[in-house]
Amino acid sequence: MTFTINGREVTAYEGETVGAVLAAMGQRALRSSEKFNDPRGLFCGMGVCQECRVTVDGISNVRACMTLVTPGLRVELPGVALKAT
Ligand code: FES
Repeated sequence: MTFTINGREVTAYEGETVGAVLAAMGQRALRSSEKFNDPRGLFCGMGVCQECRVTVDGISNVRACMTLVTPGLRVELPGVALKAT
């Protein structure tokens, strides 16, 4: 299935999380911190740390590690450019 990350079309397998797809792409920074603008990314991978928050279909602060990809999903990485492939 396909969905978009920062407007780029990405392919994923059914059952994958947004976080898993981003990790497979080598995208380590998923957002920047509010206070110091430092890069943040997957840490616990199980929904606890909140470091993987992204915007999904216009809803901010969604945990990438807990969100299953669905066709046509629109993911934005707040303040972070998508790694070139
Ligand atoms: S990586 Fe910790 S909540 Fe997602």
